[in-house]
Amino acid sequence: MMRVLVTGKHGQVDTALQGLGDQLGLEIIRIGRPEVDLAQTDTMEDAVRAARPDVIISSAAYTAVDKAEAEPELAQAINGEAPGELARLAKELNIPILHLSTDYVFAGDKDGAYEETDLPAPVSVYGKTKLSGEEQIAAQTDNHVILRTAWVFSPYGNNFVKTMLRLAESRDEVNVVADQHGCPTYAPDMARVILAMAQQVAIDDDPTLRGIFHLTGQGETTWAQFAEAIFEGSANRGGKWVQVNPIATTDYPTPAKRPANSRLSGEKLDQTYGLVLDPWRISLDSCLDRLITQGNLVKDG
Ligand SMILES: NC(=O)c1ccc[n+]([C@@H]2O[C@H](COP(=O)([O-])OP(=O)(O)OC[C@H]3O[C@@H](n4cnc5c(N)ncnc54)[C@H](OP(=O)(O)O)[C@@H]3O)[C@@H](O)[C@H]2O)c1
Repeated sequence: MMRVLVTGKHGQVDTALQGLGDQLGLEIIRIGRPEVDLAQTDTMEDAVRAARPDVIISSAAYTAVDKAEAEPELAQAINGEAPGELARLAKELNIPILHLSTDYVFAGDKDGAYEETDLPAPVSVYGKTKLSGEEQIAAQTDNHVILRTAWVFSPYGNNFVKTMLRLAESRDEVNVVADQHGCPTYAPDMARVILAMAQQVAIDDDPTLRGIFHLTGQGETTWAQFAEAIFEGSANRGGKWVQVNPIATTDYPTPAKRPANSRLSGEKLDQTYGLVLDPWRISLDSCLDRLITQGNLVKDG
């Protein structure tokens, strides 16, 4: 049975990896707080070695994009240094590491979807620290896969879908930014692709399977259109419909700047691995089924 070490114990992607890994009969070992704090890299080595992993999936991160502007050192320790240390350990153990990164490594001024060969130019502390993580991993080991994803949603943790459904409990209309474009990505669907990639790189040392890959749901949208789809899906399931008022980014100032264009091309992933994620609207239906039809919004917290 393949042993998969995953960082993060309460996040969207690590929870999805645990769920699918259990179904597939993989041994998923999650490490995270309180025992292992990625801000203190010396807490990692014993836990990683004790897990005796065949592959490492580095998912945990400092993901509070706005808060990172005020805590750049902490964000750098968790998003920059910790992945480097994990990669060093992966190299010592002679195993591959798959690492989650972000669309926020890009400036967002490209016309069209970003490809893996496009030059990163992050415009936020979060984006800069995530780029540093990519670089530190690549500096430690060639046996790595960097997976840039975006706009992650799921029944778990905090995300845009859950925020919209919660807002619906107290509002009849919401203002949502309509000039940022991206690809919503469903964590359980990511887990399917990530675990398939992990199983392949664990047995195949082909260098073309390594390097940077973009990993997002098929299709694109804006936050405002995404919100409309969420409320339509909610109404179709007997939940509340809420009016969405499209607004400009400039009308919703935040501490961190966001890329206007976050779209990532999945072509390299498809051509190299033959793997694609589902269209985001199909995945949204699955997510809403779990949150509304099965009544998990309250239960999941
Ligand atoms: N969410 C998105 O829209 C998005 C977009 C692009 C890329 N990504 C990337 O995808 C990956 C997974 O994202 P996600 O949505 O699953 O994140 P998430 O739901 O915010 O979960 C983050 C996880 O990291 C853990 N963590 C944070 N700081 C830690 C520390 N100092 N020590 C140990 N664990 C720590 C958290 O644990 P606690 O519960 O203890 O805080 C949590 O388990 C991340 O690498 C992220 O950068 C996400």
